[in-house]
Amino acid sequence: RLHEAMRYSVLGGGKRIRPLLVYAAGEALGVDPDRLDAPAAAIELMHAFSLVHDDLPSMDNDDLRRGRPTTHRAFDEATAILAADAMQPLAFEILATHPPLTARPDIQVRLVALLAEACGANGMTGGQSMDLAAEGRRIDAAELEHIYRLKTGRLLRASVLSGAVCAEQADPAALQALDRFADALGLAFQIRDDIMDIEGTTAETGKTGGSDAANLKATYPALFGMAHAKARADELLAATFAALDRFGPAGEGLRWAARYIVLRQKD
Ligand code: IPE
Ligand code: IPE
Ligand code: MG
Ligand code: MG
Ligand code: MG
Repeated sequence: RLHEAMRYSVLGGGKRIRPLLVYAAGEALGVDPDRLDAPAAAIELMHAFSLVHDDLPSMDNDDLRRGRPTTHRAFDEATAILAADAMQPLAFEILATHPPLTARPDIQVRLVALLAEACGANGMTGGQSMDLAAEGRRIDAAELEHIYRLKTGRLLRASVLSGAVCAEQADPAALQALDRFADALGLAFQIRDDIMDIEGTTAETGKTGGSDAANLKATYPALFGMAHAKARADELLAATFAALDRFGPAGEGLRWAARYIVLRQKD
């Protein structure tokens, strides 16, 4: 039953944006794609774990995810908590044992550190805690963007930088550019998610709309208005493109991902 709940949580719908970012960042730096399967899978597992916990009654209390009942609805709360708990070490097990990487323990250690830092108290989990603490409060844009950076941005950044860490050698300026790209992308991602919670249909999002308003969440559109939220997302999209200038055609995968995230257009 635990394994069934893990499969349920990670398979099925889902845009797979984070694996895509791992491969696209690897492509930008000419990395052998075989090396990227482990970080792509590990990050998607961590993401799925965060979604299962995010939906729990004590957090966002949502019933629908990826067009299906949330894990605690399809199974039960204890099973959902444990399935998420088990997905987290599985991610690190994959990084430590996947054959294409075992000849490069230096890369494995960097991948483990990136993912651990992105998900801990100074990353996703810390951001989730701040997100709950901000419910019903009026916070300023700087505080809101700080929460977005942690709860959503850090795992997206780890996706991009994991691709880069697998390169034989990455020039520090390229890594800095990817970091700027990921920072703008993370903010834009959460702003778009908040917009979709208001404007998107369940067919588009696979989630129940209006969840943020029901939870009195501090979000961009709720605090600063829809027009401002959209303008900020557009500004951030421009910043992602600017950060990718140096990569030329090799950055096309990352540009596609940014356009898809912000505009939800697949062309
Ligand atoms: C949802 O992420 C959670 C946020 C960080 C906003 P996604 O929109 O990438 O969810 P899936 O993986 O496609 O279901
Ligand atoms: C979630 O933000 C961020 C996570 C770390 C899971 P949301 O709570 O807005 O994500 P959704 O809308 O439920 O997917
Ligand atoms: Mg949430
Ligand atoms: Mg949620
Ligand atoms: Mg949301």
